Amino acid sequence: MDHELRYLHANAIIEPLVDRFYAWMHTFTPVQASMNLAFLQVPLLESYLESPPAHVAACANPELRGGYFVNVPESRADEVKALVAAIRSERAAMLDFAESIAQAEQLLEENATGFDLTPLYAKLPPALSGLVELVYDTYNQPSLRFLEPLIYHSPAFIEARQSVQLSLETGIERPFILSTPRLPNPGVVDLPLPFRHQGIDALFGARLRPTTPAALREALEISDDETAAGLARLLAPEPPGRPERHIESGGRVRYFGHACLVLQSPEAAIITDPFISGDSTASGRYTYDDLPDHIDLALITHGHQDHIVLESLLQLRGRIGTVVVPRSSGGNLSDPSLALYLRRLGMDVTEVDTFDEVAFPGGEVVAAPFLGEHASLDIRAKSTYWIRLAGRSVFVGADSSGVDPALYRHVRSHLGTADMAFLGMECDGAPLTWLYQALLTRPVPKRMSDSRKLSGSDAAQAADIVTELGTREAYIYAMGEESWLGHVMATSYNESSYQLQQIDEFLSWAKAHGVTAEHLLDQREWRW
Ligand SMILES: [Fe+2]
Ligand SMILES: [Fe+2]
Repeated sequence: MDHELRYLHANAIIEPLVDRFYAWMHTFTPVQASMNLAFLQVPLLESYLESPPAHVAACANPELRGGYFVNVPESRADEVKALVAAIRSERAAMLDFAESIAQAEQLLEENATGFDLTPLYAKLPPALSGLVELVYDTYNQPSLRFLEPLIYHSPAFIEARQSVQLSLETGIERPFILSTPRLPNPGVVDLPLPFRHQGIDALFGARLRPTTPAALREALEISDDETAAGLARLLAPEPPGRPERHIESGGRVRYFGHACLVLQSPEAAIITDPFISGDSTASGRYTYDDLPDHIDLALITHGHQDHIVLESLLQLRGRIGTVVVPRSSGGNLSDPSLALYLRRLGMDVTEVDTFDEVAFPGGEVVAAPFLGEHASLDIRAKSTYWIRLAGRSVFVGADSSGVDPALYRHVRSHLGTADMAFLGMECDGAPLTWLYQALLTRPVPKRMSDSRKLSGSDAAQAADIVTELGTREAYIYAMGEESWLGHVMATSYNESSYQLQQIDEFLSWAKAHGVTAEHLLDQREWRW
């Protein structure tokens, strides 16, 4: 049995964890992870321990969906208590690093008045020493610039925090990833592996090439029989994958849900913001079974947790040639480097700026600007893309907003008109503090936070983008509406939701102006 050839089950999923919290960029990149641990995750767990029933009740309340509440039954509160104790002792260096950042910001606020910053280096907390530069902008606003590559080699980056959980997708919505830690559960295989571990590639490679349970056990460094038995339950005798995952001629775009598109020609495949449903038994959606065996480029538009999705990237790492990411500003607290992050995950990465070109067999990708949608924070690691494949050009707009549509006129003057445009219209996004609270060491009044939403285009802005680009086909996507991604998005739309009304308004505008437009949901295919 251990030596019979097996494939990985189509529904196998991986959940990457750091200190048992589902990992996303800001809980991995060391500066942001330290702050999230110290100022969000530990306080959240402590709040839970004060009253587990209050948290559990809040999680059951649809009005509070996406809120920061821990969905762990009271009977398991002791495990949460042990988790907090372990974090306090084993992650002390990260907690100290975060506190040091808060102190250094205070130091700047009180002392950086436009005069020379040199004397302040001696007053920096020791944890930051050699890891930050003190700078002003030209308006004398001081800030800390983090020397990010060095910090990955400092005590603030603790790889031992990482582990993975393997299981079969049940189709039942998982707990919200930003707030509920994943405890051990029956039917779930816990492995203490760093995300870069090559055993993960061996496991997901077994979707394409059969292997033996014994070989996988060794690749994943599993020493006990019980864990090995759990692993064996994730394997199957038959290969997953549908023959239509490849094409023989022309071009094809498939919408996999949310911001994930797969563009194919017989020679090449490109995926955008990979985020794939793991439930191959569900109908009306594309899943891992529908992905081509080799993906030349994976394009990441920005660092939000619904666009750079580790559980999908880890599953695909072995079949993606290169991940294309936008360049960050380099050291700004709110703008961690996507390239450093993904290289740490063992991926081959190309970093791009606006109008940089990346060739692939039979086509090319050009990076284009991405405006707004980041609560007015100075976050540069965001890009839209222009993809030329099989004789068509496709504009991938992600959550970029039309706050200044003239931008798209400049894009058009350089790149021409796109045959198809994919636009996000999450036009009533979450407020500043929802995603960035741990990085804000000064209290932000609610009114200020609410004024700075993570919003994409509304109807008028989307119409302006389409007009400026001169495109005749526009598809609204990236709305987080698919039923299977609630654990990441926690969206709750209904018919009276502002966003859906705005989409309808845009569709009416498009009809009146002879533009083909659609609101995408679940699954869609275009062939030419
Ligand atoms: Fe976003
Ligand atoms: Fe998004």
